[in-house]
Amino acid sequence: MLSIYKEYTDGVKSMKIIKSPKEMTDFALEAKAQNKTIALVPTMGALHEGHLSLIDKARSSADVVVVSIFVNPTQFGPNEDFDKYPRQLEEDAKACQERGADVIFAPDASDIYAPDASTYVCEESISTHLCGKSRPKHFRGVTTVVTILFNIVRPNIAVFGEKDAQQISIIERMVRDLFMDVKILRAPIVRDSNGLALSSRNKYLDTLERQGAARVHQSLLAGKRLVHDEGCTNIDRVKALVINHVTNAKTRVIYVDVVDASTSLPVQTLEKGKCRISMAVWYGQTRLIDNILI
Ligand code: PAF
Repeated sequence: MLSIYKEYTDGVKSMKIIKSPKEMTDFALEAKAQNKTIALVPTMGALHEGHLSLIDKARSSADVVVVSIFVNPTQFGPNEDFDKYPRQLEEDAKACQERGADVIFAPDASDIYAPDASTYVCEESISTHLCGKSRPKHFRGVTTVVTILFNIVRPNIAVFGEKDAQQISIIERMVRDLFMDVKILRAPIVRDSNGLALSSRNKYLDTLERQGAARVHQSLLAGKRLVHDEGCTNIDRVKALVINHVTNAKTRVIYVDVVDASTSLPVQTLEKGKCRISMAVWYGQTRLIDNILI
């Protein structure tokens, strides 16, 4: 018998919040016994329109949509924002229900990681580039928790957003290398009207900073224009232009690179339609990432 932590209903459709991993797996196995397919949308909560677009994609791809909300401690470095990361389960639950999710899986960290947990899943190539350079154990935490979520939720499909393009490349590689039976779907970046890529961390920005941070996307557009309008194929020139465009008193560039659009690995030759400019910057105290297909 499932002990549901909370059930939301609008009289037509109900959505459950499950906290226990065992109950989540029982629910999944029951759905599969009824020949239903499951799509998982893994999130850390503080949901915005970008996450909700992933739920839409999941909704149109499977019978049952599970949204996991778990601020995963193992993907944060010691001096990062784990403690201040926004947590708003009630608000998130409302948004998920409105978008047609069936289940929120919101475990406690102590139910996911035993106190003496010592097993990790590591991808060792793509993870060393881009964000991996400044966040050395970040992707190990991501691949580990995504594997744990796959083992608990048993999804046929999992949906990830392309704002975290490197993360998707790593997960695709992990799924391929470890013969995981999950289809990974990519969903496009959702942006504010000023171009700023939606992110839960945008909550750290005040109104003025939110406007100013739009220069991150503008710099990517400038890089793309250099390639498309001026036919530039020189990677260093593209990178220099983007860095120059984004830099001001508020920004500190962490990296700008041109990478393969599908693997996120660095490229030697810039080919239109096959490459992405990826970047990370500090905007004041907030770390922002963004990318654009060129
Ligand atoms: O993209 C995120 O929000 C997280 O990295 C993920 C995939 C939910 C794993 O914690």
